[in-house]
Amino acid sequence: MKGIILAGGKGTRLFPSTKIISKQLIPVYDKPMIYYPLSTLMEAGIREILIISDEHNIVFYEELFGDGKHLGLSLTYKVQKKPNGIAEAFIIGEDFINGQNVALILGDNIFYGQELLKTLEEASELEEGALIFGYWVSNPESYGVIEIDNKGNVVSIEEKPKKPKSNYAIPGLYFYDHTVVEIAKSLKQSKRGELEITDVHKAYLKKGKLKVKLLGRGVAWLDSGTHDNLVEASMFIKTIEKRQGLKIGCIEEIALKKDFISKEDFKNIIKRMPENSYTEYLKRILKISF
Ligand code: TTP
Repeated sequence: MKGIILAGGKGTRLFPSTKIISKQLIPVYDKPMIYYPLSTLMEAGIREILIISDEHNIVFYEELFGDGKHLGLSLTYKVQKKPNGIAEAFIIGEDFINGQNVALILGDNIFYGQELLKTLEEASELEEGALIFGYWVSNPESYGVIEIDNKGNVVSIEEKPKKPKSNYAIPGLYFYDHTVVEIAKSLKQSKRGELEITDVHKAYLKKGKLKVKLLGRGVAWLDSGTHDNLVEASMFIKTIEKRQGLKIGCIEEIALKKDFISKEDFKNIIKRMPENSYTEYLKRILKISF
C-alpha cells in the first residue's frame, strides 16, 4: 500500500497565518502539522509516500523531509496547481500510484489513540474497494457525513449536510484499491468547482464496495483548520506529551520502532540535530528502546 499526504488547499480560515506559508507547515505544539499525518501513515506501515502541495510550498516540504531515506521512507513530491478538490490527488498521483492500492490522508488531520495502531495496520491490508472511517462528532454539518444501517453498512453519504442523518463524520484518512484513479478521472466538478472526495465514496458505494469502520471514543481525531482548532490541537498534544513524557507524531521514533531504520541510523539523525528538548527526547528513546 502506498500513501498520499494532501498538503495544499486555500487555508482561508487561517489567514493571515497562511498568507505566505502552507497551513500544514504551521506548528501544532512542538512540530510542524504535517508530522502528524506523516506519522499516521508510518504507523500504518506505509513507506512509499507522495506529498502534494502548491507550487510555492512544495519546496519547503522537500527541504523538511528530503527523499525520506533517513526515516526509511521513500518520499516524492508533486504540485497541485490550484486547490481543485481532494479527489484531484489521485489524478496528480496516478504515476505514483501505478496500479497499486493507496491511502490518502489530509495534511491537517491529526489522529491519536490506543486502538488506532491495530486499525491502521488492518486498513493497510485492504485488497479491494474502499475503506473510510466514521467518527462521532457534535457538529456533523461541517463534514462529510455517513448514514449507517443496523448491520453497519453505509446507506448514504452527504457533504456538509444542513440536516445530517447521523453524527458520524468522515475523517480525512481513506484507503482505496487502485480503481480510485479511474473513479477520480470520471468525476465532474461540483457546484463549488472541486473534485469532491464524497463523490469518490459515492462511486464505491454504488458498486457495493464501500466499507466503513467506526472509530471508538478512545481515538482522538482533531482537525486544525481554524485558529481555535489549532490552539486546541496544540493544547491537546502538549497535555498528553507532558503527562506521559512521550511524544505524539515523532517521526524519527516511529521509524525506529517500526524497524524502518536501525539504531545506528537513529543515532545519525540525532547527530545532525541541534541540542534541544526534541533531541533530548530522541536520546531518551534510544536508551529505553533497547
Ligand atoms: P479544507 O480544510 O477543506 O480547505 P483548506 O485547507 O483550503 O482551508 P480553508 O477551508 O480554510 O480555505 O481542506 C482539507 C485539506 O485538504 C487541507 O489539508 C488542504 C487539503 N486540500 C488540498 O491540498 N487541495 C485541495 O484542492 C483541497 C480542496 C484541499
